[in-house]
Amino acid sequence: MTDKKKTVVVLTGAGVSAESGIQTFRDSDGLWEGYSVDEVATIEAWQWNKEKMLEFYNQRRAQAASVQPNAAHEALKKLEDHFRVHIVTQNVDSLHERAGSSHVLHLHGKLSEVKSSLDDSLIYEIGDKPVALGDKCEKGSQLRPNVVWFGEQVPEIPNAQLIMAQADICLIIGTSLVVYPAAALVYDVPLQAPIFVVDPHKPAEFRFDRDITYIQKRASEGVPELVTHLINNYG
Ligand code: APR
Repeated sequence: MTDKKKTVVVLTGAGVSAESGIQTFRDSDGLWEGYSVDEVATIEAWQWNKEKMLEFYNQRRAQAASVQPNAAHEALKKLEDHFRVHIVTQNVDSLHERAGSSHVLHLHGKLSEVKSSLDDSLIYEIGDKPVALGDKCEKGSQLRPNVVWFGEQVPEIPNAQLIMAQADICLIIGTSLVVYPAAALVYDVPLQAPIFVVDPHKPAEFRFDRDITYIQKRASEGVPELVTHLINNYG
């Protein structure tokens, strides 16, 4: 017997976690309003102020661990009863996993992990614990958050492209689609796959002419509605 389930590929951004209490980056009350990207999210900043960066990510890690998945994360888990679901997230929180989603690829890394600053293959799970200057990997290099900073490669992009290309249906939830190469993943979605966007604001214009359904609602409302629609019409 073959598995006839359709594949739903979901690209998520900060907006899916907003109602859990994690700030987005570029909304008017977003994280980048209060912090300079250059000081806390670039590889250059890591060279000259490790302590400040470690403290910034310690705060983010503690906060992400203290919040709960919301109705959007939970609806995406429910979708697995009817479809093969692959989530590609730009988020560094683990709310999709904590809601129970089985296949989650983190494009920009995870707050709950640290890695060696000299050997990318040395990755350690630390949960919600802080990292201090002087905490080292087994080879003696300073540990750093396992997140992708501006100016760094995004090593998961090829895997994400393969996932996007499998989509029978694509959902794009809570992302402004202004950060590349993540934003370009939409161009790997097969032409015949319908695309649904859930976001109170329209994200950046797509550079292609195809049918896109915009659901201009918050994720906690729009995603459960969309999941019901998909189950009833495509399941
Ligand atoms: N529900 C759904 N979408 C929402 C909600 C909500 N409750 N609140 C805000 N949004 C939408 C905004 O309208 C916006 O389109 O979420 C999007 C958030 O956009 P950004 O703040 O730019 O976040 P994101 O697209 O995830 O950023 C991409 O940039 O800073 C880097 O590495 C960081 O992964 C991040 C990347």
